[in-house]
Amino acid sequence: MTAFDAVLARRSQSKVTDSAPDHDELARLVAAAGRVADHSSLRPWRLIELRGDARLRLGRALAHARGEDAVSTKPLRAPLLIAVVVVERPSSKVPGWEQEAVAAGVAHTLSLLLDEAGWGVIWRTGEHTRAERVALAHGLRSGERLLGWLYVGGKPDDRVRGRRELDAEAFLSDMPTGELPTALPAAPSKKKNKDKSDKHGKKGRKKAKKKAEKERKKSRSATEGATPTPVGEDGANAPADAVKRRADAAAARIARASRRQEKHVRAMGSEDEREVSVVSRAAPAPPVIRR
Ligand SMILES: Cc1cc2nc3c(=O)[nH]c(=O)nc-3n(C[C@H](O)[C@H](O)[C@H](O)COP(=O)(O)O)c2cc1C
Repeated sequence: MTAFDAVLARRSQSKVTDSAPDHDELARLVAAAGRVADHSSLRPWRLIELRGDARLRLGRALAHARGEDAVSTKPLRAPLLIAVVVVERPSSKVPGWEQEAVAAGVAHTLSLLLDEAGWGVIWRTGEHTRAERVALAHGLRSGERLLGWLYVGGKPDDRVRGRRELDAEAFLSDMPTGELPTALPAAPSKKKNKDKSDKHGKKGRKKAKKKAEKERKKSRSATEGATPTPVGEDGANAPADAVKRRADAAAARIARASRRQEKHVRAMGSEDEREVSVVSRAAPAPPVIRR
């Protein structure tokens, strides 16, 4: 299976059976997942295996974090939980957010490898992921923060889940041109986001198709008589209709970019800053994966 196939085949599994990879199998996959791109090779992450009663200790910490003297049974939804920890290393070159990106990359890659190996995985978080009680239960140290848990178990045989299509064009754009706005425009409203996600539904896809057709026509008339946008070195040997399609696509991209730029300049607003909470507890922690 190629990486491309593995990515397309992966789905989160919210329900898993009681079987789980053993430590050695997990360690083999972790060794591969740990090869993600890592600025300055800081290895700013570690993983904690939670099996058996360790899941109950997490359940207790989660219940305590919400003010209850009880044990949450949520961690019992899978036989193996892998806590993903960002271990922020002191660095003048690599800020904390880059280190979080590396740890998240490891978690995503490990999920993919587990899925490919036949295991069911879902990355879970929650309101109390960064609660102090939860950090203490995991033995986190200062500068360490949880990114959640990979819940891992057997894939139930009967669960055949369809692929979710993704409209790549909705996520790809060109750099805007022209004068820069003086402030970042406001983020799209929730309603707009809802419309966007509807692109995956039948109605949304129809709408997107119509819109793309309209855009194509518009850009064609705008570029009529003009020299087609260069299509690359191989363009000279490509069949005429392929060259035309590529020129049309390039013209549509340019038209979209200039519309976006106009919108960008019109809609100036303030930046919404997201707060990142930091758990900093001093506590001895066991090594992640026994080497
Ligand atoms: C950082 C992160 C946190 C997540 N937290 C939860 C969660 O708390 N509960 C949950 O059901 N799924 C969680 N997910 C999984 C997503 O819900 C899941 O990826 C999404 O439903 C898409 O399904 P798919 O992975 O099969 O494409 C999380 C995923 C990520 C990357």
